Amino acid sequence: MEGCLCYAFNDTLWTQCFSRSSTMLLLVSILILSTVTEGLKVIGGNITVVQGETAILPCKLVDTAEPLTQISWQKMTRGKPQNDNFYTILAKNGPQFVNGRDDRFAFVGNFNENNGSLKLSNTTLMDEGTYTCIFTLFPSGNHKTEIPLNLLVPPVISLKDNPLTLGDEEVSLVTCTAAGSRPPAEVVWITGTLEESVRRTTNSTLHANGTTTTVSSLFGIPTKEINSHSVQCVVTSAARSDKETLNFNIQVFFPPMGVNIIEKSEGVFECLTEANPPSNFTWQRISQPMPQSAVKVEGATLQLLSMTSNLNGLYQCEASNHYGSEHGHLYVHVNSASCTACWTILIILLILIAFGAAAACYYYKYGKFPSALSRMVEWIRRERQPVPTDSPGHVQGVASGEEELPPLQEGSL
Ligand SMILES: *[C@@H]1O[C@H](CO)[C@@H](O)[C@H](O)[C@H]1NC(C)=O
Ligand SMILES: *[C@@H]1O[C@H](CO)[C@@H](O)[C@H](O)[C@H]1NC(C)=O
Ligand SMILES: *[C@@H]1O[C@H](CO)[C@@H](O)[C@H](O)[C@H]1NC(C)=O
Repeated sequence: MEGCLCYAFNDTLWTQCFSRSSTMLLLVSILILSTVTEGLKVIGGNITVVQGETAILPCKLVDTAEPLTQISWQKMTRGKPQNDNFYTILAKNGPQFVNGRDDRFAFVGNFNENNGSLKLSNTTLMDEGTYTCIFTLFPSGNHKTEIPLNLLVPPVISLKDNPLTLGDEEVSLVTCTAAGSRPPAEVVWITGTLEESVRRTTNSTLHANGTTTTVSSLFGIPTKEINSHSVQCVVTSAARSDKETLNFNIQVFFPPMGVNIIEKSEGVFECLTEANPPSNFTWQRISQPMPQSAVKVEGATLQLLSMTSNLNGLYQCEASNHYGSEHGHLYVHVNSASCTACWTILIILLILIAFGAAAACYYYKYGKFPSALSRMVEWIRRERQPVPTDSPGHVQGVASGEEELPPLQEGSL
């Protein structure tokens, strides 16, 4: 007598016909064949996610017709280094936790389709490790695969500046930190025109949890030239799709340096200085109260409203900021009593230094002290044409005839 047996193997339907006497022998040999089946495969993967995101741990059994009894999962992670069962899926009971629940895991496979995939949400670095997916078949037993789960951790990026005051020694200007990154982040500086004047150092520290903190500093001499230049710290990390750029404006603080008084327009004088942060200005008349009705003071500006002799005197402009102060002087003399044909404004600009500790220090260091003290400017203007003495109009006349006079600049004196 003869019979036929059909079986699926390697996606092909095989049919064999044989005599009844050999049926048992064949069945046995087919069973043995399936335990060592080369076609049966458990397909996993190598998964990489960014911390906090959801990971799918794929696991599929293919190329077998054997009945599936159970799917079980084991894990060996950074948080739990012993390889332990933690999840099983049974045909009847469905998925269940072993050794405690963790609701971040959910079964997203399909038992009947031999799909054992799991979803893990809110991943943390502690979830990193190896997950083993095991299919238990009858009768061939367990078939498994290992799925590495790799976590990427984006760095926490910060900038730290050091308060900078003028000096001639190299100091740390600014530090950029990419903390707790996995894999390590790359930190670079874009310094533009400061390329030649700065130096950079970068250090990395590997933490026990596998993350790395990278610290990069810019060093340079805190000069006025580098003040208010911008630099950028650019951090690149495999855990972020785009680079992160932090902008930093270098601030070198210094007291007012060199007070100049310029005549902005007729009878309007402005006090100028270089300082960081910007100076505040105060005008006063030395030894006498300000002639309130004849002058108008607005910040750095002193405006002489009428050319009368009660304006006469030595005026002082004080420029100051948190780091020190400096003075400039303006001598005003209106000679209107005896001579209507001529009058004189005598302006003496004295650069005097009123020094706070910081400013004094600076000047000693740079040796500019003596020359600044001895600097004196005398500017005598003479009216060439007769003008009325009591109308603001003659202020106009004065300045228009005097355009050839040198400006009150430090350098020109
Ligand atoms: C898995 O992928 C990661 C990152 O792509 C790689 O570093 C690792 O070597 C891979 N592991 C295996 C077992 O292939
Ligand atoms: C994942 O984290 C979010 C926000 O912290 C939380 O609302 C959510 O319940 C968490 N999901 C699970 C499955 O734990
Ligand atoms: C890793 O360790 C460092 C240093 O102990 C810590 O600052 C950081 O927050 C840790 N990172 C994670 C993702 O646990």
